[in-house]
Amino acid sequence: MTNGPVRGILISPDATLRESLAGYARGSGGAFALLQSFSVRLDALSGTQFKTIQQATPALVFVDFDSSVDLAVSLARDLVKASPGLVIVGVGATLESSVLLQAMRAGLSEYLTKPVTPPLLAEAIERLLPKVTPTGEAGRTLGKMLAFFSAKGGSGTSTAVTNLAVEIHRLTGEPTLVVDLDAELGEVSLLLGMKPQFNFVDLVRNFHRVDADLLASYIEQHETGVHLLSAPFHPEKATELTKDQIRQILQYLRGHYRYVLIDTPRSFSPETIAAFEYADEVFLITTVDLPSLRNVQRAVPLLNRVMQRGTEQLHLIVNRHEADHEVSLKDVERSLGLPVYGTLANDFEAVIRSVNSGKPVVHNDGKSPYTRDIRSLANRITQTEATDTDRHQKRGLFSRLFRNRGDAAGVEGSRS
Ligand SMILES: Nc1ncnc2c1ncn2[C@@H]1O[C@H](COP(=O)(O)OP(=O)(O)OP(=O)(O)O)[C@@H](O)[C@H]1O
Ligand SMILES: [Mg+2]
Repeated sequence: MTNGPVRGILISPDATLRESLAGYARGSGGAFALLQSFSVRLDALSGTQFKTIQQATPALVFVDFDSSVDLAVSLARDLVKASPGLVIVGVGATLESSVLLQAMRAGLSEYLTKPVTPPLLAEAIERLLPKVTPTGEAGRTLGKMLAFFSAKGGSGTSTAVTNLAVEIHRLTGEPTLVVDLDAELGEVSLLLGMKPQFNFVDLVRNFHRVDADLLASYIEQHETGVHLLSAPFHPEKATELTKDQIRQILQYLRGHYRYVLIDTPRSFSPETIAAFEYADEVFLITTVDLPSLRNVQRAVPLLNRVMQRGTEQLHLIVNRHEADHEVSLKDVERSLGLPVYGTLANDFEAVIRSVNSGKPVVHNDGKSPYTRDIRSLANRITQTEATDTDRHQKRGLFSRLFRNRGDAAGVEGSRS
């Protein structure tokens, strides 16, 4: 059984149905929660709304078939493909048995013929409960928060974060978000070749009314499937953030993504400190020149003070690594008193090609030494084996619709 309430979502322009389900939720004594009800016809369901449904990780989705049976069947198929344990309940006028069969094959668990009275609804939900996968806020695991920091400018942090996010997402198929906290110099969007419409500051400003829908409208989706919450374009906006606001938002984001990778600014600003306090793991990226190593040496005690588990959660990554460099990895470990967690090859060609094309190295240059190292790091971080299966081939009609509408959907969302 579930830890918390069974979480449901309804998609229906039918006010009576919406009221019945909301009424059932209110009277269920906390056993069923109606997370959201979308009062739209299926042909008007936006990409943002589809994304919101997925991100809310409901256990039950009620789909009104009356606006379009074909779209309802496609939606059921796409939702179940994206979240295999999801239980979909169709509601609408009587269906021909061949159409009903087709809907069941697409993943529908149950079809309720209108009018659906509250007792009928209650009976159906109770019948479905054993099929429902435990989800719910209480049972939901928080995502891993990975903060990346370098003690000296130009160490390769933004490049590493961007590429690791793409690779982690490819490996795991899990929702992965990059937060570019470098409010002054944020470059992740450039590295991904994106022009974000909104940013972290906009989200912080509206945090008092943030929900999954609003969150989705601030987040951009890259073609690789990685999501991005970017830094503001205008550095003067950066000063508006307080540590508490950043903390709140990071915590909220962890509830919505399996992996949250944070590109932190170099200074020990409030946002950087909040990121270190909350991070499960902190990755310190350095090159092996003396000024960088000296800066790392100075930064480690500060990091230790704010990280919850101290050096145990601090991982050193040597960037622009060359095996025959006069300073060996052993020298680095000895001078810093930290083991080297991983290395990233010095790979000017692949990195510059990536910068020029606005495509991550791992996407652009699959066989480069940099890609090889990012893959092994991503493997270590996720502790999964690389598979050649591209889990993202499972996109159906609605996901494609979302991809095509991605930018427009971001603009459409509610904001002040
Ligand atoms: N492994 C690598 N091989 C070759 N060039 C690299 C490598 N990693 C990063 N670079 C290059 O080094 C420069 C700095 O990289 P990047 O912007 O990722 O660093 P950063 O630490 O985020 O810098 P900043 O301090 O400006 O935020 C860029 O020109 C990038 O293309
Ligand atoms: Mg950077």
